Amino acid sequence: YHRNVFWFLLSSHLRCNMSNEVVVILDAGSQYGKIIDRRVRELNVLTDLLPLQTSASAIKEIGCKCIIISGGPSSVHQGEAPEFDSEIFNLGLPVLGICYGMQLINQVFGGTVATTEFREDGQFETELDKSCALFKGLDVSCQTVLLTHGDSVQTVAKDFSVVGKSDALVTAIANKAKNIYGVQFHPEVDLTVCGKQVMKNFLYDISGLKGSYTVTSREEACIQQIKTTIGKSKVLVLVSGGVDSTVLATLCYKALDATQVVAIHVDNGFMRKNESQEVLKALKLVNVDVKLVNASNTFYNSTTTLYVKHAKHKVNSRVLCQTLYPEEKRKIIGDTFMNIVDSEAHALGLTIDDCFLAQGTLRPDLIESASKLVSSNADAIKTHHNDTELVRALRARGRVLEPLRDFHKDEVRMLGRRLGLPEDLLMRQPFPGPGLAIRVLCAEEPFLCPEFSHTQTVLRLLAAYSNSINKPHALLQKIHAIISSEQEREKLQKYTDRFPMKAVLLPIKSVGVQGDGRTYSYVVGLSSPDPKPDWEALFFMAKTIPRICHNVNRITYIFGNVVSEQIQDITPTVLSFNVLSTLRQCDHVAHSVLVKRNLVKSISQMPVVLLPLHFDRNMLFRGPSCQRSVVIRPFITNDFMTGLAAYPGTHIPEDAVLEIATSIKKVPGISRVLYDLTSKPPGTTEWE
Ligand SMILES: *[C@@H]1O[C@H](CO)[C@@H](O)[C@H](O)[C@H]1NC(C)=O
Ligand SMILES: *[C@@H]1O[C@H](CO)[C@@H](O)[C@H](O)[C@H]1NC(C)=O
Ligand SMILES: *[C@@H]1O[C@H](CO)[C@@H](O)[C@H](O)[C@H]1NC(C)=O
Ligand SMILES: *[C@@H]1O[C@H](CO)[C@@H](O)[C@H](O)[C@H]1NC(C)=O
Repeated sequence: YHRNVFWFLLSSHLRCNMSNEVVVILDAGSQYGKIIDRRVRELNVLTDLLPLQTSASAIKEIGCKCIIISGGPSSVHQGEAPEFDSEIFNLGLPVLGICYGMQLINQVFGGTVATTEFREDGQFETELDKSCALFKGLDVSCQTVLLTHGDSVQTVAKDFSVVGKSDALVTAIANKAKNIYGVQFHPEVDLTVCGKQVMKNFLYDISGLKGSYTVTSREEACIQQIKTTIGKSKVLVLVSGGVDSTVLATLCYKALDATQVVAIHVDNGFMRKNESQEVLKALKLVNVDVKLVNASNTFYNSTTTLYVKHAKHKVNSRVLCQTLYPEEKRKIIGDTFMNIVDSEAHALGLTIDDCFLAQGTLRPDLIESASKLVSSNADAIKTHHNDTELVRALRARGRVLEPLRDFHKDEVRMLGRRLGLPEDLLMRQPFPGPGLAIRVLCAEEPFLCPEFSHTQTVLRLLAAYSNSINKPHALLQKIHAIISSEQEREKLQKYTDRFPMKAVLLPIKSVGVQGDGRTYSYVVGLSSPDPKPDWEALFFMAKTIPRICHNVNRITYIFGNVVSEQIQDITPTVLSFNVLSTLRQCDHVAHSVLVKRNLVKSISQMPVVLLPLHFDRNMLFRGPSCQRSVVIRPFITNDFMTGLAAYPGTHIPEDAVLEIATSIKKVPGISRVLYDLTSKPPGTTEWE
């Protein structure tokens, strides 16, 4: 039942928009499904995202121009393979299969698919046939693409030709007569450099679409929807300061009478420096009046009840200013926020009977929920919606308004621009709801588990690889088992020779994604006696280390002198006003450099995170750990699912990076500044 409702919601907009050209995306449960959707819409083509098992006749009824089959977690030759209707290949429509979709095509047309022994997710080089319509216009035939682990094509289906290869792996197949194509890599993500061109070729050239679906044509529909839904009632809008809720509030003001809109902004004490004031001021400029609720003192001492799964009972959490665990912080902040909203709404006289709630739910949120339902993982659905008593009651009565549910992030920005919101507000980098609270790594004790010293030894060998190979060590074999190609070993030798490095395992935990799960694990700090960072060598190490040490989620470069001593303790850290104000100052000076140099747009996001680490303590008289360090994470992404650490000299000028490091170092109480070199995967954008 839930499944159907979700899919209906996703495609409902389409039903009243039949004049547009439509692409059907059949979702096999991929984590990248929503990015395919976004990529297609970015090319101004309307999509209808449907489950893989949708019948050929249903697809025919929609009148779409072509079909894209997504990747998915299943295997085509195992029992759990999802159902599908093979008639979809007889509709005479162009088809593009991605990853799982390609294997499915290959199997349907008589080829075979085998489970690959072992392959890691990541960027690989592949040769593509430029004479194939799918790869028309690529500048070179060798392309960098994202491959994810899983099955691969063993024998190619009859009537299909191989149009892409990476060593022995078939990366693309084509049947020109039938207009059916398959790619093993993910053209929808940024990590596939030529991805957009491939999608464009498929949509415009192969399927003959025009690309006439634009934001302009949708603004009026939004306004109309708000007017009809709200009528004479009132609407509550929670303004976080992010782009979505700001655009939403502006739309509501444009559609309704000002007395009908109640916009509230809560300062939870974890905002950036001066952020609340600036958001309020910007909205005032477009005549949106927001009520400020300053609840930073309330949040500080707030608690919530936690459900302990294995013990099946509830316990009270610590107060927020003493909580150590990221999930606990999130829960307390979320619950406290809800209570505050409930009492404010009550104080403003809103009742269930005369009010609606407007939410800035975007299309990717809906797709994610729907996609999880398809992989029958209903438990895992993230609650994207604020769940307060009032909100729940409004939801139950269908009194929730989500006018942006058909928009992706970049489209919301375009809409905001049309509505006259200032550019600096629209281009604001995304900032998590719990704000600075999840950018302070809290800890009372160092994270030292039994494998700490073993991992440290492997790291020592790796960082000094050019010397290590001269002194046989049992662990070198382990390294060579993974770095198996001669070419890679030569690179490792070259880089460690030209840039002397030390690698220390830091006794803290940070979040990463490995496979399908989130893990909390170690961070490595690289440093060098050479004061000029060799970014090429550093980024190479950042790619290599997690492949060998699976308990490492992140690799950082430590600015300044070489760090050779092992750090075995930490500076006890909680969310106190003091700690937060230190981080707020560091975040402010770092972002001021970006603003001053006009770099805000070129970096997608730059979390500035406080770490409980004190380096460079006197070795003779070891003073207590009392300072903290800061890591900056300039990050490049368009799709917000995958991304790269910004490469100094390419994505961000090197002197800007050095200026940021120098200015943070001047903030009182800061020991060292670090630079996060990790791409995603394996490291997430945020550290907690
Ligand atoms: C804070 O923001 C307000 C509104 O934009 C501005 O007038 C004020 O000068 C800012 N203060 C600081 C310290 O930046
Ligand atoms: C909220 O109160 C705190 C502490 O009293 C203060 O530092 C902060 O600037 C206030 N926030 C706003 C947006 O005025
Ligand atoms: C938090 O609670 C403590 C102990 O009850 C109290 O002393 C302190 O003033 C409270 N802090 C805030 C910010 O309300
Ligand atoms: C609820 O919504 C507000 C405003 O959109 C946001 O700041 C806050 O983080 C959300 N809370 C949760 C728990 O998602």
